[in-house]
Amino acid sequence: MTTLVVVSHSDPHSLTQHVARTTADAIRNMGGDVDIADLHAENFDPRFSKDDLNLFRGNGTPPTDVSAEQDRIDRADDLILVFPMYWWSMPALLKGWIDRVFVSGWAYEFTPGSEFVKKLDRLTVHLIPVAGDDADSFERHGVYEAFRTQIERGIIEYCGATLGSTTFVHESDTKSRDLLAAEIRDLSESIAARVAYPATATSR
Ligand SMILES: Cc1cc2nc3c(=O)[nH]c(=O)nc-3n(C[C@H](O)[C@H](O)[C@H](O)COP(=O)(O)O)c2cc1C
Repeated sequence: MTTLVVVSHSDPHSLTQHVARTTADAIRNMGGDVDIADLHAENFDPRFSKDDLNLFRGNGTPPTDVSAEQDRIDRADDLILVFPMYWWSMPALLKGWIDRVFVSGWAYEFTPGSEFVKKLDRLTVHLIPVAGDDADSFERHGVYEAFRTQIERGIIEYCGATLGSTTFVHESDTKSRDLLAAEIRDLSESIAARVAYPATATSR
């Protein structure tokens, strides 16, 4: 099984990058193949260009940087997105990656008058958002529900991919390093087991 871990963070020493590396290591330790797409380090351009818009309107072919990302996802059985929560959502860099890569014709097929086709049905997606705030606050303010609507349903399920798991890391700036380390070890091993042994893992 092959997994693509996509991480969106500018600081290699950040907690988010640590979560991505720990998860990738756990998957390798269980015998899985892992590719890491570090969007900052790779200078992925998140701007939705005129070429992207033309493609959305049914003209032209995907820009080469976009088709390279699509090829990476095509090689993977599982996709893991690791990102900090910014303004109750994902960072602009990751949102731009989704805007540009998850395009009509590849992620879904929308033709007026024809049936809508979801094209990512062979892919399982896991989400690991890293948040400064605590779980109570997320519940109270409806952030979990917004996340489900916008990201789980609005992006992953819209394209027909399976939602494997969503695991928030909370209080990323305030919790003790020991607690965070234990939490990250547990979540990475749990996701690695789902990725390496999908038939035996229970769904979310
Ligand atoms: C621009 C920006 C927006 C943020 N918005 C949120 C937010 O809406 N909710 C939240 O819980 N934390 C928010 N945070 C805090 C980050 O999620 C937190 O600092 C991060 O997860 C820490 O992990 P890191 O070391 O990987 O950066 C925000 C941080 C920044 C820089």
